[in-house]
Amino acid sequence: MGPAERIVDWLRTAVTPLSGEELARRLGCSRAAVWKHIAALRQGGYEIRGRPSVGYTLGTVPDRLGPAELAPHLAGSWRHVEWRAVVDSTQNLARDLARDGAPEGTIVIAESQTAGRGRLGRQWHSPAGCNLYCSLVLRPPLPPIAVPTFALVVGLAVADAVQALLGARAALKWPNDVLLDGRKVAGILTELDAEIERVRYVIVGIGVNVNTEAFPADLATRATSLRLAAGHPVDRARFTGGLLAALEARYRRFLADGFAAMRPEWEASAALTGKEVRVTAPEGEVSGRVVGVDDDGALRLAGPRGELRVLAGEVSTRAFVSGRKSERE
Ligand code: BTN
Repeated sequence: MGPAERIVDWLRTAVTPLSGEELARRLGCSRAAVWKHIAALRQGGYEIRGRPSVGYTLGTVPDRLGPAELAPHLAGSWRHVEWRAVVDSTQNLARDLARDGAPEGTIVIAESQTAGRGRLGRQWHSPAGCNLYCSLVLRPPLPPIAVPTFALVVGLAVADAVQALLGARAALKWPNDVLLDGRKVAGILTELDAEIERVRYVIVGIGVNVNTEAFPADLATRATSLRLAAGHPVDRARFTGGLLAALEARYRRFLADGFAAMRPEWEASAALTGKEVRVTAPEGEVSGRVVGVDDDGALRLAGPRGELRVLAGEVSTRAFVSGRKSERE
């Protein structure tokens, strides 16, 4: 944490006002330097009240997901937050940081993205200041073939965090869409850099519609937000802290026991079990009734000629209109 974040942290937990002299002592700097940090924090939206010869107290804090706002909500060992007001995509920034050696657990968060991307080359709607756009650098000691199952585990972690917030379990649509009331509330994009036998790094991108109140027309019928589900605004920093803690716990368990240990939980949260679906896979289209997932993370379908396993693709539950996708659930 930088000096400004430390000041916020001390003011937040202080039971009595903290004097400029005390803050200067704790930081090992001059009172003039403390004053400059306080001025910068006020400029950034913090309400810091100062009473001469008494000290400083903290009022309202800005609705932002920077290091200072997140610090009180981070419970695990992932604490290094790279925050930006705007990026093209947090995936790109995280990848650049990973290439430069960023350690496991580096968290990249932006308030908005100009080129947020989803799976299969889609765009991710990324308006400013109301949602969560986050990419995490991980360096799992695994072969690349294990990464698709980890993407399923990330979905479980998002469902855990949503459950802690709303008390309701989100549904998971294979491979890793997170749904509330049948509408998408979060999406996950996992990208990796690997040798044949070893992952160099994985970038786990998570987009959560937290406080969006209205979606563009093309998303309006199939997207929702935590706010719309809860019926009130959601504390983004608190939710993000809960999500990162859930993700770290799931990640540790995944490294220790593999996806197989969590497969029953994934299937219990699955949105499409028993439904007739069509999957657009790289090798073509297949149809069948969803049976579950296997230990490799493949979708199991009961088809007209027996059971099928699908390793990658896009699932839809209604007929495709010839030549274009008629829907995406
Ligand atoms: C999907 O459902 O298609 C995946 C969406 C992933 C969106 C997140 S937002 C943070 C990160 N940065 C991106 O550009 N994409 C991911």
